[in-house]
Amino acid sequence: MDQMKVVHTISAILILGMLSLRVAECRTAKVSLHYRAINCRKHSALLTDFGAVGDGKTSNTKAFKAAIHSLSKYASDGGAQLIVPPGKWLTGSFNLTSSHFTLFLEKKAVILASQDESEWPQVPPLPSYGRGRDAYGGRFSSLIFGTHLTDVVITGNNGTIDGQGATWWKKFRSDGFLNVTRPYMIELMHSNQIQISNLTLINSPSWFVHPVYSSDILIQGLTILAPVDSPNTDGVDPDSCTNTRIEDCFIVSGDDCIAVKSGWDQYGIKYGMPTKHLIIRRLTCISPDSATIALGSEMSGGIQDVRAEDITAIDTQSGVRIKTAIGRGAYVKDIYVRRMTFKTMKYVFWMSGAYNQHPDAGFDPNALPEIQGINYRDVVAENVTYSARLDGMANNPFTGICISNATITLTEKPKDLQWNCTNIAGVTSNVSPKPCSLLHVKEDVVCPFPEDQLPIDDIQLKTCSTT
Ligand SMILES: *[C@@H]1O[C@H](CO)[C@@H](O)[C@H](O)[C@H]1NC(C)=O
Ligand SMILES: *[C@@H]1O[C@H](CO)[C@@H](O)[C@H](O)[C@H]1NC(C)=O
Ligand SMILES: *[C@@H]1O[C@H](CO)[C@@H](O)[C@H](O)[C@H]1NC(C)=O
Ligand SMILES: *[C@@H]1O[C@H](CO)[C@@H](O)[C@H](O)[C@H]1NC(C)=O
Ligand SMILES: *[C@@H]1O[C@H](CO)[C@@H](O)[C@H](O)[C@H]1NC(C)=O
Ligand SMILES: *[C@@H]1O[C@H](CO)[C@@H](O)[C@H](O)[C@H]1NC(C)=O
Repeated sequence: MDQMKVVHTISAILILGMLSLRVAECRTAKVSLHYRAINCRKHSALLTDFGAVGDGKTSNTKAFKAAIHSLSKYASDGGAQLIVPPGKWLTGSFNLTSSHFTLFLEKKAVILASQDESEWPQVPPLPSYGRGRDAYGGRFSSLIFGTHLTDVVITGNNGTIDGQGATWWKKFRSDGFLNVTRPYMIELMHSNQIQISNLTLINSPSWFVHPVYSSDILIQGLTILAPVDSPNTDGVDPDSCTNTRIEDCFIVSGDDCIAVKSGWDQYGIKYGMPTKHLIIRRLTCISPDSATIALGSEMSGGIQDVRAEDITAIDTQSGVRIKTAIGRGAYVKDIYVRRMTFKTMKYVFWMSGAYNQHPDAGFDPNALPEIQGINYRDVVAENVTYSARLDGMANNPFTGICISNATITLTEKPKDLQWNCTNIAGVTSNVSPKPCSLLHVKEDVVCPFPEDQLPIDDIQLKTCSTT
């Protein structure tokens, strides 16, 4: 008996000791944070201060909500950061509700998305889409959602957000199981000064990162991974956004690695908010059934001034692809692309004027998109099936296409018709194999790439350390 007591007492002391060590560790972790961000914060707290349990099983939706609510009082007093420590933090959808806020994931922190539908509130469709993308009507709120915010940072020392998308993909594929559109992983709406960086994002239920109706957005150092056969797992979708810079991202996806959008048919035309002044650089993409960068197909608010450079793709369907249709209206213009390196792909250049997915039958058959001023230069592509499929619209050709300095090497069994062109116009220079006759060959043309700097390139990051 007495011996047992002694053992118990010793264990109790040991456990207490371990607990206090744990607490000490957390404090240390708090002190040793160093990262770069658009702004640093005066106040910080750990998710565990709000009762969170990192066992991968306990729902922490309430802890995230309580933490964010508690920290919101600092929005006008130097801002606040919420630190997610190492552990597996299961949660349903939660909202970022205050400006001047940072969500920081430590290296071994994993936010796990709940697979319980009741943990996902429903929100109305986006006005520029008129309906959810998967189904008529509403949509599930994104895992991390925020609206009408200024100066929001979601970053980490390569911490992970795992959308556990497999159950959603299954529901999406089996007819009738899903009458509400799947959630995205991160959606920030009507916001400005956004940074999303240095994270690993895996298995989103649908799109991963969706800034919409927003401006001044920096997306940097993301590793985005989803099975190459998962449905609609686009990497980054800037949608009706101005001044966006996406750089140093590695994306493996079942859909487009980057998809540039601005609303769908009559809803997007009415909303009328373009995506413009977009920089994409140092992107590496693997997506065998989709594009490295897609412009559209939802482009009804217009897409203008996109600058993409140093783009690498290993096994993709296409490079910088334009997707549009009758009924979209608006425009895709002033697109500049240089230094693309591709290995194994179906089409190096692909433009589709008949991407005929419509939100409903109410689209305007007279709303023709204007596709104008599309420039590609310095392209090396190997193991290619078709050099180009450029498919404009009857009575509405795609014009001002320029391709220079492109060297395409074909697969062992290349198709006969390498350049399949209809209803397009433009020029080429130093391109092989020989382009279609609609693209006039001119000697020593160098397709333009803007020399000026966009404001989003002027952002200076600050070094933040927590003391
Ligand atoms: C997040 O905010 C939206 C409104 O902007 C609301 O509909 C939704 O229920 C909120 N989500 C949560 C988890 O509270
Ligand atoms: C972040 O983690 C991913 C997944 O483990 C890894 O592939 C990537 O190289 C890491 N990035 C950095 C910068 O360490
Ligand atoms: C974040 O990512 C950027 C771009 O990949 C990299 O240069 C930087 O070193 C990373 N910062 C940290 C704190 O890991
Ligand atoms: C053509 O493109 C390749 C690959 O980007 C590049 O190395 C080379 O310098 C370019 N040539 C000219 C004349 O610009
Ligand atoms: C070339 O592309 C084909 C598909 O067209 C693929 O099966 C093959 O593995 C690729 N070869 C190399 C060397 O990557
Ligand atoms: C050429 O493109 C047109 C229009 O996109 C398509 O209908 C046709 O099948 C293509 N031809 C070949 C041989 O690929």
